[in-house]
Formats: sequence, C-alpha cells, structure tokens
Amino acid sequence: LHIVVLMGGWSAERQVSLLSGAGVADALESLGHRVTRIDMGRDVAARLADAKPDLVFNALHGTPGEDGSVQGMLDLMGLRYTHSGMVASVIAIDKQLTKQALVPHGIRMPAGVVVESRSLHEHDPMPRPYVLKPVNEGSSVGVAIITADSNHGQPISRDVAGPWTAFPHLLAEPFIRGRELTVAVLGGEALAVTELRPKSGFYDYDAKYTDGMTEHVCPADVPADVADEAKRMALAAHRLLGCRGASRSDFRWDDEQGVDGLYLLEVNTQPGMTPLSLVPEQGRFVGLDYPSLVQRIVDEALA
Ligand code: DAL
Ligand code: MG
Repeated sequence: LHIVVLMGGWSAERQVSLLSGAGVADALESLGHRVTRIDMGRDVAARLADAKPDLVFNALHGTPGEDGSVQGMLDLMGLRYTHSGMVASVIAIDKQLTKQALVPHGIRMPAGVVVESRSLHEHDPMPRPYVLKPVNEGSSVGVAIITADSNHGQPISRDVAGPWTAFPHLLAEPFIRGRELTVAVLGGEALAVTELRPKSGFYDYDAKYTDGMTEHVCPADVPADVADEAKRMALAAHRLLGCRGASRSDFRWDDEQGVDGLYLLEVNTQPGMTPLSLVPEQGRFVGLDYPSLVQRIVDEALA
C-alpha cells in the first residue's frame, strides 16, 4: 500500500507526534509499504491531493489532528485513515463532552466543572485538592494539581505559574487519590492494564516522555476485579464514543475504595506511538511487536 503518515502539526504535542510518526513510518517501511511522510502544515490538503495515498496513517496528537478537524477534511477528500472518525474525535478530545457522553451509561468519571481561568484568583471552584486541566489538550500539557498548600492556601493568584495563564477556560475536577492506570483498546479487545508509577510528582509531560522517570507495571499489580472493571470501562467507552482502531483510556484508582474507586479520566483517540508509549507496550504484552501493532491499526482502518 501507499500510506501517508501524517505527523507533527502545530499542537502542543507536536514533538510527541513527530516521534510517533517516525516510529510508525519506519515500521510501515519495514513491512514493505510505500510511505510518504507529511509534517502537517496549513497546506496539508494540497499535499494529500498530490500524494493520492491508499491510506492515511494519522500519527497526530492534539489539535487539529485529534479533534475531528483532520478527520472531517479526510472524509471530504474521500481518503481512508486510521483511528477514530470525526464524531468520536470531536467528543473524546473534550474531556467535559466525554463525561456527558459516558456518565449516563454508567461509566464512572470525576464530576467536572468548566471554569474561567480569571475567576481562579477570586475563589476555588471546588474544595481542594482538585485538578485543573485544559479541556482539550493531551500529554498532561497544562495540568496542575491544587492542594491545600498551593499558593499558601490562598486563591490561585495570576503570578503563580500555571495553566490559567495560557488557557481562558479550564476543567476543574476533584483530585482522585491513589494510583494511575491505563488500558489500550485495539479493535474489539482491551489489551491490558498498565500502572504508571512516576518516580516523583505526578505523571506529567516530563514523566511521560523521559526514559526512566516513570515505572510502567504491565500487567498492573491490582486485584482482578479492578483490572476487569478497567478493561470493561475502556472497551465500553471505546464503543460508546464510536472509536475505531486503537484508543487508550486513562484512569485513577482510589485503592482504598476497591472497585468503586475506579474513575475514567479520558479516552485518547490518537494514543502515543513513541518508544515509551503505552499502547505499543501493551501490544507487546499480548504478543504484537511494534510493526505488527502498526499493521493491525492499518487493517482496522481498511476493514
Ligand atoms: N496524548 C498522548 C500522545 C497520548 O495519549 O499518548
Ligand atoms: Mg490525553
């Protein structure tokens, strides 16, 4: 096949996407496909029209590659592409819309409120500890945990560095104490549960992409009912949103509450494919090496 690997772009996760795209493109070449690498700019439609690929492998993360925009463009152009389509992407990129879609179906997620960042220097939007995050970024870009001690217990002032300086609106949700879990879904199957144990602080951007900063435990050392429930929720979320190919659902688990302490945080429709990424790691766990995983994602797109 002639496959365009779309990567880069201009989101906050550009560098991550370039790593995902390079890995995917190398793997596709090793599998014998003809590969055109496109670092996405505003001229992407013209370049795709020139390339006339059989398939687009979407290795973008964040806006606009993960938010439905690129998917809508590819639909209009009549090009086939990997991962989720437009509607699933539009919903999943927005953490608040995701709650509205999934919570009524019995998927437990922390109750969120969208707040104006400038209101934060007047009052806290909910009791501490809580998490502030952009509604539609990935890789923990702009995430902050507000504890009792943050800003000496005073409302967050503008001179404290944080996401409120860059994002006019933020999602606030109660901080779930405990542990960080993730589940990859490929096609109709939840692959495994991985626990992320950052060596210090929380699982932020640096902990995600710096080798050695986070211990990955796969399969996670959690009770069987918790692992089963995480897989069930990830698969249900994938299906309810109408995701295609690979997705990855991220969880917090309050280990003092048993299975009732498991909360879905979000569904990633364009999960990372870098050497440190979690979907490739869970693929290996179920016997799919990296090129085989990439080929499976291609197969899902053509099915
Ligand atoms: N947003 C990053 C790429 C991930 O979900 O893996
Ligand atoms: Mg994400």
